[in-house]
Amino acid sequence: MLPFLTPVESDFDATNRLIINQLHSDVGLVENIGHYIVDSGGKRLRPILVLLTANALHFKGDSTRMHSLAAIIEFIHTATLLHDDVVDVSDMRRSRLTANAQWGNAPAVLVGDFLYSRAFQMLVKLGSMPIMEILSNTTNIISEGEVQQLVNAKDPSVSEANYLTVIHKKTSALFEAACESAAILAGATQTQRQAAFDFGHHLGMAFQLIDDALDYEGDSETLGKNVGDDLAEGKPTLPLIYAMEHAPAHEQALIRKAVSAGDASALASIVTIVKNCGALDYTHQAAKNHAHKAEQALANLPSNSFTQAMASLAQFAVARSH
Ligand code: IPE
Ligand code: IPE
Ligand code: MG
Ligand code: MG
Ligand code: MG
Repeated sequence: MLPFLTPVESDFDATNRLIINQLHSDVGLVENIGHYIVDSGGKRLRPILVLLTANALHFKGDSTRMHSLAAIIEFIHTATLLHDDVVDVSDMRRSRLTANAQWGNAPAVLVGDFLYSRAFQMLVKLGSMPIMEILSNTTNIISEGEVQQLVNAKDPSVSEANYLTVIHKKTSALFEAACESAAILAGATQTQRQAAFDFGHHLGMAFQLIDDALDYEGDSETLGKNVGDDLAEGKPTLPLIYAMEHAPAHEQALIRKAVSAGDASALASIVTIVKNCGALDYTHQAAKNHAHKAEQALANLPSNSFTQAMASLAQFAVARSH
């Protein structure tokens, strides 16, 4: 079991029960696909973050509200995954065929829409306008990040700053929202709310930086998803952006060509290049810097077993292999 789960184990079990209950639909295919992706697990980091942040800030009151917020965040995340695998043409997720590989693009996209809208139905029941504002903005920002990434595809001239904006929007924004909305639910002060947001921001950045490194150095069986999918889509992620500036000229040219064509046939050589020129080390260092800043943000939250678990979550984000 993941060590940072221990202090919120019973809330986590309740959240998982709620996630399953909320998948109900009169349309059989919605439930089939919903259960298929949800039952395959996933790390559930975002709902765990909600539970840790709210408890760290001494959440009191009806605990089903906290479980509901955690489930809402996981539904939004799951919806993005269903859509993401369609746009990335990925066929493996959580050690299974992706929903698009199993049922086709149309059902995967539509069930993604179902999960987004189920999340918003639950959000209305939660009845907090500030949290509704955060999550509607976040969903909007995630879409924008995904579209910006689509525009960047097959473009080897994308800058590091542009890349960082994309990962902030597509991934970090939901981590920020999980922490900030949990802080609001717990009645946090403005300083605590900002600290929770900052923690989520840096954790999310570290998380996606490592995800992008793992797409070159990871092991597909451990990851539960394919390595090399980013190259196949011509995605200029940080390992490639760095290598296109620091590797020997002929190797830079090889990467430019592969990105422009969205061609993963040279994956093995490119893995060697990004290792040898220090691009993966650079990406890991950037992730470590963010994880460190995430831990620093905890100084403005109460010191307890929940914030200790948040610190260990930040360490996991950079040390992970899945
Ligand atoms: C995958 O997120 C999408 C990214 C933001 C990299 P996770 O790695 O948290 O996916 P699951 O939920 O554990 O499968
Ligand atoms: C995920 O980015 C971002 C969102 C799901 C919005 P990736 O495309 O890198 O995620 P994986 O690697 O497929 O999980
Ligand atoms: Mg993807
Ligand atoms: Mg993607
Ligand atoms: Mg990825």
